[in-house]
Amino acid sequence: MRDLFDRIIENKGPLGKWASQAEGYFVFPKLEGQISNRMKFNGKEVITWSINDYLGLANHPEVRKVDAEAAADHGAAYPMGARMMSGHTDLHEQLQNELASFVKKEAAYLLNFGYQGIMSAIDALVTKDDIIVYDVDSHACIIDGVRLHMGKRFTYQHNDMDSLEKNLERATKMAEQTGGGILVISEGVFGMRGEQGRLKEIVELKKKFKFRLLVDDAHGFGTLGKTGAGAGEEQGVQEDIDVYFATFAKSMASIGAFLAGDKEVIDYLKYNLRSQMFAKSLPMIFVKGALKRLDMLRTMPELKNKLWENVNALQNGLKERGFDIGTTQSCVTPVYLNGSIPEAMALVKDLRENYGIFCSIVVYPVIPKGLILLRMIPTATHTLEDIQVTLEAFSAIRSRLENGTYKRLSQAVAVAMGE
Ligand SMILES: Cc1ncc(COP(=O)(O)O)c(C=O)c1O
Repeated sequence: MRDLFDRIIENKGPLGKWASQAEGYFVFPKLEGQISNRMKFNGKEVITWSINDYLGLANHPEVRKVDAEAAADHGAAYPMGARMMSGHTDLHEQLQNELASFVKKEAAYLLNFGYQGIMSAIDALVTKDDIIVYDVDSHACIIDGVRLHMGKRFTYQHNDMDSLEKNLERATKMAEQTGGGILVISEGVFGMRGEQGRLKEIVELKKKFKFRLLVDDAHGFGTLGKTGAGAGEEQGVQEDIDVYFATFAKSMASIGAFLAGDKEVIDYLKYNLRSQMFAKSLPMIFVKGALKRLDMLRTMPELKNKLWENVNALQNGLKERGFDIGTTQSCVTPVYLNGSIPEAMALVKDLRENYGIFCSIVVYPVIPKGLILLRMIPTATHTLEDIQVTLEAFSAIRSRLENGTYKRLSQAVAVAMGE
């Protein structure tokens, strides 16, 4: 028998093994200053393309004022206890009602964190007799939620309706034996590549199969649809989403999340979401802050318009310059390049140090070997000048990637990493 920690010390995990080369720069970088289009990294100003502050609310003066007043009035603690026991208030209820009407559902329930919240929702919605069918590219919180499930689960190929249909056939046969039901889970927007979940086609399958649909619309809420109600509204199927989920961590630039659906379903979840029943209530700072942000989503369409002006300028500019931005249908803007991990590291370093551009980088094993994904998140705070500077920088780094500059620069790194 060995000590439990032997394995941890030997094998730091798929990401942890890069820590000595990557920490502080590629992972756990420290962005400083007020959240905006330009922040500081290692003491130098950079244009930030990796913050999900889509509508620019994080540092909006009106939002900052409400956050500060709420902190002064309530401190960070109020209300104490879980919602069920002592952590409930009129404003938690008001926020739920306003969220429900914003996303065109009968009722909503607040969650402290999106991640745990949706895990608990999946856990509460199914029993061991039920079957879950979910997109293989789902966010980790969905995968972890499915892990809690004691019954059968099937993945379908990403956004592939034939694959979904085949798995629904299998799930239906199985459910007929167990006497259970089927839960299908998709994202509204897949956060890495920016594609929308094919909600319209998924909903169409309800004519052929009996299932309920849960949608994680973390990136769609506030950014898509005429009123900002998300990917379901954008695709004209909001009412066919049985359980709608969104987090405050993106458009709302805060913390917290919610589920919305028919009142009966939300009433059930309220009494069965373990991560909420046994955890402290969302503090008032975030409740008041969310009410303010939601009001701005409702009454200031100019924020979403400005966001989309920037999204279009960035995505069209990239396409005009011949960049591969994949199949995005949202604000998430991936740029795919070919190169090794050491080349990707040298390229990102060049972008940050010499061009003042800060964006996230994604490499194998998240995407296929040999591909580099630079993931950019335009926001309403970016300017057309930021976009122009970025486009020029991207053209420059592509030439340097193609002429082997990063290969040469990265040779020392490659040797060190045994590549
Ligand atoms: C698709 C998706 N779902 C859920 C979450 C988790 O939400 P939270 O940050 O509120 O825990 C995230 C990340 O924020 C996300 O990108």
